[in-house]
Amino acid sequence: MPRLLPLALAALMLAGCAAGDGGTEGSGSRDGSGPITLAIGRDTTGYLRPLLDRWNQAHPAERVTLLELPEATDEQRAQMVANLQAGSDRYDVLGLDVVWTAEFAEAGWIVPLERSMFPLDRFLPPVVDTAVYRGKLWAVPYTSNAGLLYYRKDLLDAAGFEPPTTWAQLREQARALHAEHGIGGYAGQFLAYEGLTVNFAEAVQSAGGGQILSTDGTRVTMDPDRAEAGLDFLLGGFREGWIPQESLSFKEEESRLAFQEGRLAFARNWPHAYGPATQSGIAGRFGVTRLPGLHGPGAGSLGGLNLAISAFSRHQKSAVEFIRYFTGLENQRRVLTDGSFPPVWTELYDDPGLVERFPYLPVLKQSILSARPRPARADYDQVSLVIASTVSGALTPPFEESSDDVIASLKGQLDEIIRAP
Ligand code: GLC
Repeated sequence: MPRLLPLALAALMLAGCAAGDGGTEGSGSRDGSGPITLAIGRDTTGYLRPLLDRWNQAHPAERVTLLELPEATDEQRAQMVANLQAGSDRYDVLGLDVVWTAEFAEAGWIVPLERSMFPLDRFLPPVVDTAVYRGKLWAVPYTSNAGLLYYRKDLLDAAGFEPPTTWAQLREQARALHAEHGIGGYAGQFLAYEGLTVNFAEAVQSAGGGQILSTDGTRVTMDPDRAEAGLDFLLGGFREGWIPQESLSFKEEESRLAFQEGRLAFARNWPHAYGPATQSGIAGRFGVTRLPGLHGPGAGSLGGLNLAISAFSRHQKSAVEFIRYFTGLENQRRVLTDGSFPPVWTELYDDPGLVERFPYLPVLKQSILSARPRPARADYDQVSLVIASTVSGALTPPFEESSDDVIASLKGQLDEIIRAP
């Protein structure tokens, strides 16, 4: 049986443990220390194990075991939820997508953490906000994320194009490069899942401002004209053929591979696609810039992963210490250099050595700071499902519904979710 820690006791215990406290041998001790399991999305770049090995060498009695969940965020959530609903103590530290904080906190699946245990004031402020719900800290930021536009610099240079800042420029260039080279013009993550919700939210936000829902999730704030403009940007690409139809099945990995294998002129993706592209056939021939928008640079959605502690974990003390290590400055540097993931420490974005190695860091920092959070609702998965399925229907041939009908229907469905008790 898992030993359930009442929240107050857990908080006291978390507040009381100091760095360097040793665990005991074997399967752990009564004070909450012992071996732990980190459940986190699949490590597609293989950077994680050496970082975990470093912890394990220094903490033989509190070894961490890596449990890789599926690659897509929705599937990770499904697996975690099934496990937590069953009250299982199998996972100790949970890699939570920034959009799950409200749901997991409300359900009582994660424990609140003591703020003073973590150097939160040195992290990017909007990133910390994603881990706070109803005034409490429920997780510690581990990686941030903001969408970037990847482009084939060699093809743009040859055609005399500057990297686009507006959708009109992107469309013109994507069409031209598609026609000239027979490759896809542009793609993002267009399969019906959280990735499409993000891509659509970014299109709405980049059509002159506005969000689908208010940040606190209590109101539908989507302006129909802007939402239609956002939808039309994507729909136009599918209709005109410069967004390839096969991208209706793209998640992050498929779009990353399509771009680095030379099958796309432009791609919207997260920063972790950068590192692998520098080792691919297009190394030295691509660049990254901010997402474009209707009238100029657009506004992305704030992504990322926070580390939380399962309420069913029997080794919560070790879990806190592990999170302190894993979100600490030294490890965060490696998260960037080895994993190509955006760190959460502000100062790493201004480190001259790192900026030289990752020239997109200033663009990324700006993109993270200007990105919009997704709404903090315990039923966010319902909101996302409605957005992704409605938009997916609209982008799939034969494109029967008009954009204003699609947006009106989406607004109606969202209103219903918000009104539901
Ligand atoms: C990335 C982001 C995450 C987002 C997901 C969508 O993993 O970090 O926040 O929900 O992509 O696919």
